Amino acid sequence: MTFDACKRATGSVESARRLMTPRNLTSSRAQAALLAVAGSVLFGALTSACSSPATTTPPPAARLWGDFKPVVSVRELMRDMIDPLADNIFMAVSSVTTKQGTVDSEPKTDEDWQKVRTGAVALAEGIYLLKVPRPFTPPGEDNNITGPDVVELSAAQITEKVERDPVEWNARIEATRNAALAVLELVKKKDASGLWAAGEDLDTTCEACHRSYWYPGENAAFYGRLRERLKKAQLNQPPTTPPAAPQKP
Ligand code: HEC
Repeated sequence: MTFDACKRATGSVESARRLMTPRNLTSSRAQAALLAVAGSVLFGALTSACSSPATTTPPPAARLWGDFKPVVSVRELMRDMIDPLADNIFMAVSSVTTKQGTVDSEPKTDEDWQKVRTGAVALAEGIYLLKVPRPFTPPGEDNNITGPDVVELSAAQITEKVERDPVEWNARIEATRNAALAVLELVKKKDASGLWAAGEDLDTTCEACHRSYWYPGENAAFYGRLRERLKKAQLNQPPTTPPAAPQKP
């Protein structure tokens, strides 16, 4: 394969990855997973075919201005940065129902809109920090991997999964970034009504990554077992008897 053909072919893998918008990703997770697998197989095949170009090419220019050094684990990055900033978006719209009726609230003032913009920019940029290798949990901590119904992966298992298929990990990062960019477009137009669906789209991308990497055991089979257990527990409960009438002294 010539070097140019290599470049064109790897470019098409890039566009396949870009096609994984949040909607595609969540409307069919299986499809996204397949795409990711196909992407990584194709990419692997292409990079090995491209590894010895016939002509000597100049070394690629440094792509970053400096080194990235992580400060915290993924868990802390989520808790102390990603999650609170996402709340700027999630909490920008709300609906409260009382006896008097339903009151919707949406951003109105410039200050309200700036808060949403802060969330969108911070998320679109900040989610890329997940590309910097870092531990998943703080030192001495791990995920919940004991008990009869284990749904979470250990930190070591998550690391292994990311390293085995970085294409999927990166696609999920891009999905969250795309959802944040969609919010930014709404901010520019001050389109408050669009924020309801955009917030849900964003949430779906967060959840899709969590389901794949953090608690993959929380699947249909898990919920089936949970329903069975609840049913059994209800059957075993003694029939409810009316409370005894208070005894006269
Ligand atoms: C590319 C994957 C990925 C994306 C995208 C992602 N997360 Fe996470 N998140 C994780 C992983 C993995 C963990 C579990 C870390 C661990 O092992 O404890 C996590 C954990 C969390 C936690 C738990 C923190 C704690 O205190 O235990 C919160 C909250 C969270 N994420 C919020 C979000 C929100 C909100 C978004 C979207 C705006 C998001 N995440 C997007 C991978 C992701």
